[in-house]
Amino acid sequence: MFDPRPLVDTATAIAREAGALVQRMRASAVVSFDTKSTSTDVVTAADRASEQLVRTRLSELRPGEPVLGEEEGGLDGRAVVEGLTWVVDPIDGTVNYLYGIPWYSVSIAAQLDGVSVAGAVFEPATGRMWTAARGYGSFLDGSPLRVSSTTDLSLSLLGYGFAYLPERRQRQADAWAQMAGRVRDLRRAGAASLDLCSVAAGRLDAYTEHGLGRWDWAAGGLIAAEAGAVVRLPGSSPELGEDATFAAAPGIADAMHGALVESGYGKV
Ligand code: IPD
Repeated sequence: MFDPRPLVDTATAIAREAGALVQRMRASAVVSFDTKSTSTDVVTAADRASEQLVRTRLSELRPGEPVLGEEEGGLDGRAVVEGLTWVVDPIDGTVNYLYGIPWYSVSIAAQLDGVSVAGAVFEPATGRMWTAARGYGSFLDGSPLRVSSTTDLSLSLLGYGFAYLPERRQRQADAWAQMAGRVRDLRRAGAASLDLCSVAAGRLDAYTEHGLGRWDWAAGGLIAAEAGAVVRLPGSSPELGEDATFAAAPGIADAMHGALVESGYGKV
């Protein structure tokens, strides 16, 4: 049987090295950046250097295996190809990185026929490493992770993110205002991979966001699922919107999903 665990070792080793580079670049001088689709869609020199490093190491350690990365793309414009591919977010949470908020990651996943089988999410600012292999559980620095056992929507903490387009953000804010009255509280932390890891650790009871790239959820989604979360990836939850990602502790997943639909979130 296919054992994905060696792929986790590869991902963690490379994520640590890329994370060290990202930290060195943060410490030196001014962080240079450009914007992409909108002013909230940012890329720094460190994003590009980190992706270059990850690609170089993967080509050395896993020659011939295709790589999809946030900054350079790949897979000839396709999201999924047959066989093993690597999916890389060289810095997830780039806006946090730009502002010196220590909540960003290097996220590396291996996917088999488009399904995540191994993942590592490394926090360069703290040195924490989140990992999972499909069928083998998920871990923070080697300690097993488990989602929260909450069963009460009104006592749940919901993480969320905003899409890039200003008009859509406004509609999302309206839906979030509705949700604020239904849950204990809301958190917009700014790094999707770490939001998903937070669900895995029970630091959030649920998390949802529209419009994520595959690199944002490929590792974190597996880490959440392996910790027991109900995970819906883009394309699998039309009531929340075709491009919705959703992860929740099983005890509140249905109630949270229903409340989000009622808030109008699925139509933003
Ligand atoms: C972004 C972060 C952010 C989320 C955005 C993502 P990036 O990733 O994960 O939390 O709201 O949708 O694009 O651009 O920093 O890699």
